[in-house]
Amino acid sequence: MCGIVAYTGANSALPVLISGLKRLEYRGYDSAGVSLLDDDGIVTVKTAGKVSDLEKELADLSEDIRLTSATCGIAHTRWATHGTPCTANAHPHSGCKGRFAIVHNGIIENYLALRQALEDQGHHFRSDTDSEVVAHLLEQAAGLDPNADSAALVKTILPKLQGSYALAILDRDSAGRVFCVCHDSPLVVAADGSMAASDLPALICAGVNEVVYLPDDQLVGLGRPLTGFTIKRIDTDLTEAEHSGFPDFMLKEIYEQPAVAKYAMRNDFSNLDLNTRDIRRVYVVACGTSYHAGLIGRDLIEKWAQLPVDARVASEFRYGNPYMDEHTLVIALTQSGETADTLEAAKLARSRGAKVLALTNVLGSRITQVADIVVNIQASLEIAVAATKSYVAQVIVLTKLALYLACARGLLTPAHLTNIEAQMALLPDQIQSLLDQRQTIEQVACQCLNAHTVLYIGRGVGATTCLEGALKLKEISYVHAEAFYAGEIKHGPIALIDPIGVTDKVKATPVIAVACAQATYDKMISNIEEVQARGAKVIAIASEGDEHIAELTPHVIYIPHTSECLMPVLAAIPMQLIARYIAVEHGQNVDQPRNLAKSVTVE
Ligand code: M6R
Repeated sequence: MCGIVAYTGANSALPVLISGLKRLEYRGYDSAGVSLLDDDGIVTVKTAGKVSDLEKELADLSEDIRLTSATCGIAHTRWATHGTPCTANAHPHSGCKGRFAIVHNGIIENYLALRQALEDQGHHFRSDTDSEVVAHLLEQAAGLDPNADSAALVKTILPKLQGSYALAILDRDSAGRVFCVCHDSPLVVAADGSMAASDLPALICAGVNEVVYLPDDQLVGLGRPLTGFTIKRIDTDLTEAEHSGFPDFMLKEIYEQPAVAKYAMRNDFSNLDLNTRDIRRVYVVACGTSYHAGLIGRDLIEKWAQLPVDARVASEFRYGNPYMDEHTLVIALTQSGETADTLEAAKLARSRGAKVLALTNVLGSRITQVADIVVNIQASLEIAVAATKSYVAQVIVLTKLALYLACARGLLTPAHLTNIEAQMALLPDQIQSLLDQRQTIEQVACQCLNAHTVLYIGRGVGATTCLEGALKLKEISYVHAEAFYAGEIKHGPIALIDPIGVTDKVKATPVIAVACAQATYDKMISNIEEVQARGAKVIAIASEGDEHIAELTPHVIYIPHTSECLMPVLAAIPMQLIARYIAVEHGQNVDQPRNLAKSVTVE
């Protein structure tokens, strides 16, 4: 959540900061700001809106020579947690005297008490944010110890902060330096000490190729090379952070899925220290789309490896009292590796003696520091807020894990394994064939345009696919969407179907039904007939060659034949394309949907 960029060096800081912010905008985009430091002090420009709004603001001030001549600065793009998205709440924040400017990611949980104490001492606050207390605390510390240097002042205030933070700090009295520190919120620093950012893309675009993932509570001052830290080389390709001819990142990432599927299925669990014979219980913990992938993993592990498996939303798991011991395997599933609830769930699991296996897309992310074992889902950089390729990668990796556990426990015949692996090998081409049908899929998706609500129904892995399809639609198009187990609709949800559809097919409630070749196919057909009888307009996702379904509804999207366990991978593709198409047709920004951010690093 929120993006931080900091720079100091020989060049003008502003262009580096702005292009870094643009690379981080997926982390938050409701306000943005920059502070530059030169011999005359700190100059700050900030605004509500996106980085492009900040650029307009800066263009209006282009006569201010300091903006272009300063070679040291900090910048921020925000996802509001405290206070509305407005200029006053945008970062950077300063205290009363303007000696310090700070940008902050995370949440200062005790900020109310700190603020009250500071106000009692005469400090005047200009924003509603939790972050502003940091600037005032620094000023207070400087007042108490006028001889202390900047690093000492930062160290003085850190113990007062409760919660999570990544901070980049300018001090008027320390020209050319930016002080960076983090606690439960990521910061990556260029090994040469020239830059820091809350995520790699901002550094990659500035040509940084050696970084330090800053450990918690270690203060560094930019302006000098880092020593005493583990340096990592970055091999991420900058083109991953480019649109590459696609109108948006979401579409680009959807089209990357054939390659992503190929990489994901190369994962091999046999080299990992999983102690399979020792495992007696498994939890999958995750949020959002990752949780949906986790539900599929749950079903497959239970079915093949015959272990009790529970998939839990991480925000519930961490505050529950889940039974865990040393025979428990907890699979923490997180694309970003930064999701606060998933991290806390993983920490809880470790504290209870469970083994934590993290499946993540970001090596070096915080989950990799918490887990016992880390597996890279290899989906490559995902920028669009709506997760697409990471979901497909997660489902494939979980399927491989389920197969591995089943084999290790002697529960899968070689013939069964060979059969599933052969089907899996077909997935990249099958995904491509679905992408090639994009126009047809979008024509079918037209049936959902201008609907007040879109309902999704399915059974088994089809129902889980529906949960993900509905999430995709609501998060980027803002159309209400709800997924139901098809067997449950007559226990309540069928009441949502408006009878107007019986007479007016255009206004009928759209119901997207996953009716692929599955053990429960016949039951699914009955469910489709049930909703149609109440006036629903059914859009079916069915297996190629299913002629019966075409007799029920003219709106059918066919997916290639595959085994039931792999169907969620293929059915996800039309779900993603439908959601994106509706969002685009409704004029929404699909990469930066309102109120959302890519990494949810706060509770
Ligand atoms: O990075 P994570 O996989 O931990 O993120 C979890 C969710 O925040 C994420 O999947 C979210 O639901 C996406 N916006 C869904 O598209």
